[in-house]
Amino acid sequence: MRKRGAAAIPAGSLHLPGLAHELRDPELHAAELSPLLCAWFAAHRRDLPWRVNYTPYEVWISEVMLQQTQMDRAVDYFRRWMAQLPDVAALAAASEETVLRLWEGLGYYSRARNLMSAARRIMAEHGGVFPEREEDIRALPGIGPYTAAAVASIAFGEPVACVDANVERVLARLFNVETPVRREPAAAFIRQWAHRLVPEDAAREHNQAMMELGALVCRRQPRCGLCPWGEFCRARHLGVAAGRPVKDEGPGMTALTTVAGILEARGRILVHRRPARGVWGGLWEFPGASLADGEEPGAALVRLLRAETGLAVAPGSGGKILHTRTRYRITLHWRRLGLAQNAGASLPALPDATWRWVTPEELANLPLPAPHRKLAVLALGL
Ligand code: ADE
Repeated sequence: MRKRGAAAIPAGSLHLPGLAHELRDPELHAAELSPLLCAWFAAHRRDLPWRVNYTPYEVWISEVMLQQTQMDRAVDYFRRWMAQLPDVAALAAASEETVLRLWEGLGYYSRARNLMSAARRIMAEHGGVFPEREEDIRALPGIGPYTAAAVASIAFGEPVACVDANVERVLARLFNVETPVRREPAAAFIRQWAHRLVPEDAAREHNQAMMELGALVCRRQPRCGLCPWGEFCRARHLGVAAGRPVKDEGPGMTALTTVAGILEARGRILVHRRPARGVWGGLWEFPGASLADGEEPGAALVRLLRAETGLAVAPGSGGKILHTRTRYRITLHWRRLGLAQNAGASLPALPDATWRWVTPEELANLPLPAPHRKLAVLALGL
């Protein structure tokens, strides 16, 4: 397959005068790099369930999961997913609730919904056959440049580069990039070199090997003694590998204080569906909200439930749960709730379909945000 879009890199960039006798410079020896890397990969690669058949569906699902979580957890999620949704047709036909439940805990639920939309598009517009070319894959809903390149190269062998954080770290060290890798011009430099190193005939192995090297050897704390590229690495040579990539000071953590109530009546529990857009979009949760400064959690729940559902509730015991999510440190205060007037034989009516009285079994199968799942386990033993 022809390699497209390989950009020229200015000669002599990041040149290190006077050190060439000790370092085998990566720019001068670029052609040696991939064969060494692929040999290392053949000896050290992890056995993973998506490294057996390399179907585009499996590569796609695994790559999207790996954008959300660590390898061990991704393997568990992947196995559960494939047991229920073994191919594009099964995903296209699945209910949103099934997909969200299989995705639960991975976060960014719009990704799960995009997987469904893309599967439906493949069925409707590609006759159920996964498109092969990177640009056609890229046109599917929710598929960005990284995922498109991963599927095109790992499933179909197209010689395009996959640049994830592992690859950025490997290349930032190999070439001793001294500015943050996500900012220009470093980002373009990394993209261009990533592309240039991909061999025409071994993109599958090469791209996986780059990521594997970042995961196993060129880790945040580098294990340079194990690296097949040790003699070519500019940062190692200068003794600065642990300091690459250089930090990009982004915004810090935001603290969020929230409240949720577990309202039980006649063996049912009240849940509310979040709006489709936004954080945890479309997931179900115990009723609640963010908590204003100084507000008592029980009082906040009484106010909130009256305003949103018309129900009068009385708070009981509770506690708090801490949860960290990307840039948020969430403190979730919770209370058990009872109906204040509980005279009737039937459950009180609810304002619309975003509210439901569910049994504990139904709750166990609904997709919940991670802190609410923790709460369901803690307070209801689900
Ligand atoms: N991280 C994300 N995708 C990967 C892959 N295909 N191999 C190794 N690590 C990865």
